[in-house]
Amino acid sequence: MKDKLIIFDTTLRDGEQSPGASMTREEKVRIARQLERMRVDVIEAGFPAASNGDFESVKAVADAVRDSTVCGLARALERDIDRAGEALKGARSGRIHTFIATSPIHMEKKLRMSPDQVVEQAVKAVKWARKWTDNVEFSPEDAGRSDPDFLCRILEAVIDAGAGTLNIPDTVGYNLPQQFGHLIATLRERIPNADKAVFSVHCHNDLGLAVANSLAAVLNGARQVECTINGLGERAGNASLEEVVMAVRTRQDVFSCDTQIDTTQIVPASRLVASVTGFAVQPNKAIVGANAFAHESGIHQDGVLKHRETYEIMRAEDVGWSANKMVMGKHSGRNAFKSRLAELGIELPSEDALNGAFARFKELADKKHEIFDEDLQALVSDEAATL
Ligand code: KIV
Ligand code: ZN
Repeated sequence: MKDKLIIFDTTLRDGEQSPGASMTREEKVRIARQLERMRVDVIEAGFPAASNGDFESVKAVADAVRDSTVCGLARALERDIDRAGEALKGARSGRIHTFIATSPIHMEKKLRMSPDQVVEQAVKAVKWARKWTDNVEFSPEDAGRSDPDFLCRILEAVIDAGAGTLNIPDTVGYNLPQQFGHLIATLRERIPNADKAVFSVHCHNDLGLAVANSLAAVLNGARQVECTINGLGERAGNASLEEVVMAVRTRQDVFSCDTQIDTTQIVPASRLVASVTGFAVQPNKAIVGANAFAHESGIHQDGVLKHRETYEIMRAEDVGWSANKMVMGKHSGRNAFKSRLAELGIELPSEDALNGAFARFKELADKKHEIFDEDLQALVSDEAATL
């Protein structure tokens, strides 16, 4: 029996921190409902103390969602925690996520606090949050640049104070996969009460490593991943939900856990987030980009037509696309050309006619980026005219 990998989606909180991606209350509720449909375990709906608007959004999501846990972020301050607790009152299942920075640079330059003061405040915050709910998550912000000995100390203390989830953020996306995986293994080994909490990770993508770091952490025992749809998030974004989920699902030979995500809801979720935020998805984005399941080269098209798995490691339908796509262009081969004509209901009377039409198609493809069905129809009617 495999372990469960908890998916914690923070599109509505960290995703919203992308400059220009702020969302209205109604938009947040629409996205939250889609995340619930996708069977996301935890939806971080916002940061209630940040503004009255965000408080109202978290409250609206907490009231609307029934099947996922709804989470609110709070600094390790009683007033922030109280705002989160208030906003989550209507949730069937609510979580308070409280955080304080633990890296030397953050403690010294930003918080201007000593490590002892940081531990004290973290413990106080977790105990305060426990007055609202028994589902409390704690994050040592900038853990990726924190001293592992200090992390062990603070994490042991917050587990004793009642935190059930310990989230290890690589806040500035500085870590490398092997290093981050090792950090998770070290924390799990060295914290005496580690087995009382779920280890979570929250990786940013500044070096393009957010997904790789998250997967390395999972291989080393993390059982919650924090991620966002389309990898939206502060600066270069967060680990992308669709990539984490599909990597774990596709490589079950390697992972001893799996998520409960309904992957067929991934593309609809991606489209919804792109349309609400106005952040277009790049065509070559894994899983959800327009070209993720498109084949243009003749060799690839021929292979896929003979057996899909020659060039496809996932099925387009399994992530919510209607089907894989053969793009007709200058690299396409005769087999794909013939197959597309058949899909359009066109059968040419002879091999010579097919060869003639294919030659004309290649000429056209040298002039045009993509050949559409109408081009093919025109091409074939020309060919028919010369028969
Ligand atoms: O990146 C980060 O450290 C965060 C924390 C609040 C978890 O977003
Ligand atoms: Zn973050």
